[in-house]
Amino acid sequence: MTAPASRPVPRPGVLDIQAYVPGKSAAPAGVKLHKLSSNETPLGPSAKAAEAYGALASKLEFYPDGSATKLREAIAGRYGLDPARIICGSGSDELLSLITSAYIGPGDEGVFTEHGFLVYRIAIMAAGGKPVVVPEKNYTADVDAILAAVTPQTKVVFLANPNNPTGTYLPFDEVKRLQAGLPANVLLVLDAAYAEYVRRNDYASGLELVAERENVVMTRTFSKIYGLANLRLGWLYGPAHLVDALNRIRGPFNVNGAAIEAGSAAIADEAHVAAAIEHNDKWLAWTTAELEKLGLTVTPSVGNFILIHFPKAAAKGAKEADAFLTQRGLILRGVAAYGLPDALRMTIGSEEANRLVVAALAEFLGKAA
Ligand SMILES: Cc1ncc(COP(=O)(O)O)c(C=O)c1O
Repeated sequence: MTAPASRPVPRPGVLDIQAYVPGKSAAPAGVKLHKLSSNETPLGPSAKAAEAYGALASKLEFYPDGSATKLREAIAGRYGLDPARIICGSGSDELLSLITSAYIGPGDEGVFTEHGFLVYRIAIMAAGGKPVVVPEKNYTADVDAILAAVTPQTKVVFLANPNNPTGTYLPFDEVKRLQAGLPANVLLVLDAAYAEYVRRNDYASGLELVAERENVVMTRTFSKIYGLANLRLGWLYGPAHLVDALNRIRGPFNVNGAAIEAGSAAIADEAHVAAAIEHNDKWLAWTTAELEKLGLTVTPSVGNFILIHFPKAAAKGAKEADAFLTQRGLILRGVAAYGLPDALRMTIGSEEANRLVVAALAEFLGKAA
């Protein structure tokens, strides 16, 4: 018999996990910071949401409504959904972890794509499962490759649509083909964190598929277009059986009262969302075009961020560009952890920030802006 360990030891696999590294948020002293590393909105939250948040200050001693009823009803009203099939969470990250821990156990496989959002890998490994990574085509999820990776051990397939950090998306027909090709016992998680930004007729976040199928769940967030990342708030829409399972394992008060109030006000402020979409449309196109004029390759994005590819050549690579921009207070995101060592991800920021990045990269590359 082996002797017991001299101190508590985490379950096998936990210490194999590479912790998530959030976007940087510091600029050199005396330099104005433009944080373009976490896909936050340059417009901030709705003023109505900020006001609702402030009103909570006099009620901090009370527990929140553990069912987030007001918020679920606001979301259901906005999208025409059944509130009983919505769960709110402390960011969609919490919901992704909850889903994974409910459906994946030791020996089970969770599938995601080559440059897919890193939280999937962490959630799968934290649940004791095996991450299965599927190649992409042109930085885009490939339905045939995903289906080919499914085995009897597969329990969950994760698809970020649009994907972070690539900004690419699958048309709804392809998402439907993916669902149709999966065994009935495999759960398809459609992570639609950037859905509100997408301006394509062939895109859908997946609500319709969730309504019709028993093995599809969609997650959304208030962190991006709604500008409430600091409050940690997300939601999911799923089949009744999944909602029942997750409600058994989630924390009884997993969403705080300020998030419930601010989220309810934010979803009602459609003018603010429209302004954010308009800003993004304009500056996504402008920034992409200007960077291409500098000779850089930009993966076409439908989100509020772009993936910028740099030459592999020493001195003009992604790492050097990152350092050059950081010196000027322009904080982008290195994406080597996503298998993209020669690229940087840039959130579409304010007009000032976008212009500064383009001008700085022109200088970096030795080209006139
Ligand atoms: C694809 C994707 N899903 C989920 C999230 C998590 O968002 P949150 O936990 O803030 O709701 C992010 C945040 O970067 C994301 O990019």
